[in-house]
Amino acid sequence: MKKIGVLTGGADCPGMNSVLRAVVRKAVSEGYVVTGIKNGWTGLAQNDMRVLDLQIVSGILDRGGTILGTSRIIPPLKDSMNQQIADNFKRSGMDALIAVGGEDTLKIALELYEKFDLPIIGVPKSADNSLTGTDYAFGFDTAVNIATQCIDRLHTTAESHHRIIVIEVMGRYTGWIALEAGIAGGADIILVPEYPVNIDLVCDSLRARHKRGKTFSIIVIAEGAVIEGHSNQQEHEENIRNHRVSRVGEMVADLIESKTGFETRVSVLGHIQRGGAPTSFDRIISTRFGFYAIELIKQDKYGFMVAIHKNKLNAFPIKDAVSKHKAIEPDIYEIAKVFAA
Ligand code: F6P
Repeated sequence: MKKIGVLTGGADCPGMNSVLRAVVRKAVSEGYVVTGIKNGWTGLAQNDMRVLDLQIVSGILDRGGTILGTSRIIPPLKDSMNQQIADNFKRSGMDALIAVGGEDTLKIALELYEKFDLPIIGVPKSADNSLTGTDYAFGFDTAVNIATQCIDRLHTTAESHHRIIVIEVMGRYTGWIALEAGIAGGADIILVPEYPVNIDLVCDSLRARHKRGKTFSIIVIAEGAVIEGHSNQQEHEENIRNHRVSRVGEMVADLIESKTGFETRVSVLGHIQRGGAPTSFDRIISTRFGFYAIELIKQDKYGFMVAIHKNKLNAFPIKDAVSKHKAIEPDIYEIAKVFAA
């Protein structure tokens, strides 16, 4: 019999509850008990926990957010908090801990694993899909689908008014949401952090479209996108690191309107991309991730993040998962470029 702790940390997103349900269902089938830690790492520091049983996780597969609550903590943690977490974990009698989270949550998990030898397994949550080592993190597919629906809606109004609409999506350091939602929504221009652009070239593309009779355009821009000569790189990176809104969409819209004279509007999709029910894809990978996390605990295999590659689950070192962001590669970006202008 094992006692397993589970927490959800960082930005919430649809699929967290699906993971919790899967963890509990699979753990119970193995004869294990599960303790849910409230509000991410904060809950472990404050000893705020509750038992999770089959009844508590019943009916939450399709529920957005997290029944455990979450908190945002930017790593590294203060030594005193690290120590507090390690002490509380050891006192709790737990044999293993599942940390469901993205880059920040997993960086803390890594520190606790390396410095205090805590037996931790990570589950990749990232609406931004920025974690290295896994083809997908849960939350991303839902964000892309929500953003695509919004682009579809903005398309019809842009066309009717002969306007340019700049749609700013989330993504922090990476442009995956912008790229995939942009392609799915038929965006005319997609701007991502991985490939800084010159605003004059963007304006040339828009003018060329107008000349062809397309008097409206849809630009999808990732919040972390960089505009050559206009982004204050240092301030921009600082904002992104601290999860502060960058307002890059507004800046681009102002530049376009003043340079081209085309009427331009901005729509910042924001947290709507992380709300509501997970897509079926996210429900499925969340369920598989939760199930597999317990499999790894059965094997006493720690310091790994559950990952999916070519539709097969595997254990990927947390250390490598958080070492760099999974950036958009040139071959995928080429697809987006073909549709510009
Ligand atoms: O990392 C997920 C994410 O949604 C980013 O895309 C965004 O920059 C950030 O979280 C927003 O953070 P918060 O919910 O703290 O405003």
